[in-house]
Amino acid sequence: MDIIWHSKTKQYHLYNDEISYIMAVSPLGDLSGIYFGKRIHDKEDMSYTLNRFSLPNESVDPDTESYSMELNLQEYPTFGVTDFGTQAFEVEQKNGSRLSAFVYKDHKIFKGKKGLTGLPATYAGEDEAMTLEVYLEDELTKMSLTLSYTIFDKYPVIARHAVFTNNGATDTKLTRALSACIDLPDQDYEWMQFSGAWARERIPEVKKISVGSVSIESRRGASSANQNPFVIIKRPGTDEFKGEALAMSFVYSGNFLAQAECSNYGRLRLLMGINPNTFTWLLKKGESFETPEVVIARTDSGLNDLSRTYHELYNNNLVRGKWRNTPRPILINNWEATYMNFDEERILNIATKAKEAGVELFVLDDGWFGDRDDDFSGLGDWVENPKKLPQGMAGLARKVNAIGMKFGFWIEPEMVNPDSNLYRRHPEWLLATPGRKGSLGRHQCVLDFSRQEVVDYIYDMLKKVMENAPISYIKWDMNRALTEVFSTGLPAEEQGMVYHKYVMGVYSLYERLINDFPDILFESCSSGGNRFDAGMLYYAPQAWCSDNTDAIDRICIQYGTSYGYPISSIGSHVSAVPNLQTGRSASIATRANVAYFGTFGYELDLNHISDEEFEEVKEQVKFMKEHRELIQFGTFYRLRSPFEKDQAAWIVVSKDKKKAIFGFYCLKSNVNQIPGFIKLAGLKEDSVYTLRGEEYYGDELMNMGFKLGRLSTTDLVIGQDFVSYVEVIEAK
Ligand code: GLA
Repeated sequence: MDIIWHSKTKQYHLYNDEISYIMAVSPLGDLSGIYFGKRIHDKEDMSYTLNRFSLPNESVDPDTESYSMELNLQEYPTFGVTDFGTQAFEVEQKNGSRLSAFVYKDHKIFKGKKGLTGLPATYAGEDEAMTLEVYLEDELTKMSLTLSYTIFDKYPVIARHAVFTNNGATDTKLTRALSACIDLPDQDYEWMQFSGAWARERIPEVKKISVGSVSIESRRGASSANQNPFVIIKRPGTDEFKGEALAMSFVYSGNFLAQAECSNYGRLRLLMGINPNTFTWLLKKGESFETPEVVIARTDSGLNDLSRTYHELYNNNLVRGKWRNTPRPILINNWEATYMNFDEERILNIATKAKEAGVELFVLDDGWFGDRDDDFSGLGDWVENPKKLPQGMAGLARKVNAIGMKFGFWIEPEMVNPDSNLYRRHPEWLLATPGRKGSLGRHQCVLDFSRQEVVDYIYDMLKKVMENAPISYIKWDMNRALTEVFSTGLPAEEQGMVYHKYVMGVYSLYERLINDFPDILFESCSSGGNRFDAGMLYYAPQAWCSDNTDAIDRICIQYGTSYGYPISSIGSHVSAVPNLQTGRSASIATRANVAYFGTFGYELDLNHISDEEFEEVKEQVKFMKEHRELIQFGTFYRLRSPFEKDQAAWIVVSKDKKKAIFGFYCLKSNVNQIPGFIKLAGLKEDSVYTLRGEEYYGDELMNMGFKLGRLSTTDLVIGQDFVSYVEVIEAK
């Protein structure tokens, strides 16, 4: 890994063993892209790659008369000059002009990586990464711009963000400040996005790109279940095991834009950042604005390899603290077992039975506080309801501890019900537009987290409950979108800042609680997977993946989630049947076989299952305890997609390739078929592995494949809906 600056030609080359990222100070003085791809040799001068000619009808720079931005690759394109593509940023000045001309002034290259201020970001030690900061200035407005590029040593990854500083004489306004742009010289790619809605999150969708643009965005205040802030572009032939692909992952939890734009001259532009549709930022004299980070990764070896990069990078260099690379506790959550209808006795009953099965952590979900027996009231009143918790949270937590389990609970700090004491006391603490009707979502309003005093108040309340009880875990929920966004705490010209300030408020509350309680495991949640993004993982290393706990649907949701996020982050539980969301019934074995590939836990009352099932549960807990480190932190490969066949399969392999866990799932039986093979991955070709006592070579399992139909007599020959197998494969 190194970052080379060729001072004569003013070119940069960032490289590691896998990638090269080359750019130059352009004839106009701004930054132009030269190359991003597989590692190539360094050369002092690559300026021959620039297109220095004019095409008919082109606008060119008057000094050079031969350089048009539109015909070249831009690093952080500006608006209103010769580019004509979508700009990465825009600064609205006092006189109404929106033109900027940032030119190169200086740069700094250093080992390691700086943190961002109040924002989540990947981190790296001095031997893990190198950073280039390029300093540019608009000489007319005296606005300065820093473009930051970090290259990681071990990963084919560039992390980028930008910082604007107003050194001018007047206030100014950012109307767009994306985090990164990459221009590529050809357009032969497909675009892959992860879309859905509540209970059907992160379903992959692939489309061909061609002249014009394709984009996804969130305007909901959270990153959203509808579009995930993670996109891939891949060559048409790229599959899980081969081919070129590139991805952008946004380390941010609010409104975003991700876009691919193909120009008429063959250029492909990728952009990612805060959604400009819901953003303007007043930059007063002397102030700075820092964009969130985008993590860009690439591969020549297919999508599994691309995912592995994100899994490892996020496990090692994004998740922090005690839970970084630490196997996660097996938990039981009472939500689907009781909803809000519980008392201490019921909870202790569930916990006692779970303890008998070996479960390690009890999570008390919604309904423990204020006057909350349904979702019409109580949010915002973070004091225990004495009817349900007669000795408070501390009393219950100690009783659960006495059973031999850790204890944690649910919060939804960003919200308030109109029927609550907090709302009655502080109706001005909502996000609400004066004179307009406010929408409700799940009968609740959104607190104005752009206001410091609101965040302080919630912090004090939560801290009180958390410090008085022995707490090991917090589930932090967020159950509605932001609408009618307006803050009474800000003047007119700062209203465009509210969405981002809200997210910053959420991050600041997380940061304070993490500082106060560094050992607590946080799990983020937003009606399931409405805020499943890399930003959240910086604070909460795991996220409740979906409110849909149906095992069959979960195969699809978890499969889609695995493209951009590590298995250690995927909150997954076994729930009761018929499933509460879909009405489907899968065996308890299949429900666990899906939930193993995540953080694993239970979301039902184990007192209500049969004795035989309970014996199975005990075995499941034992299995997960034995294998969770491998499953959550091993190398994960998607083998068969549930979106293409009625079957799905995946495998996770230990770093030394001596052990693997293979999961196979039949979503729908197909009559009168012969069982085929499924090719495994990640094993050592020459090693001999055992699978249910039979021996196989690694190359046999990976090239010929594992013969389906070997696992049981009533297995996949006839098939059965929802049958599944999870098998341990061990090298001899
Ligand atoms: C959301 C969460 C659920 C549960 C409920 C409680 O829907 O996703 O897991 O915590 O809220 O109200």
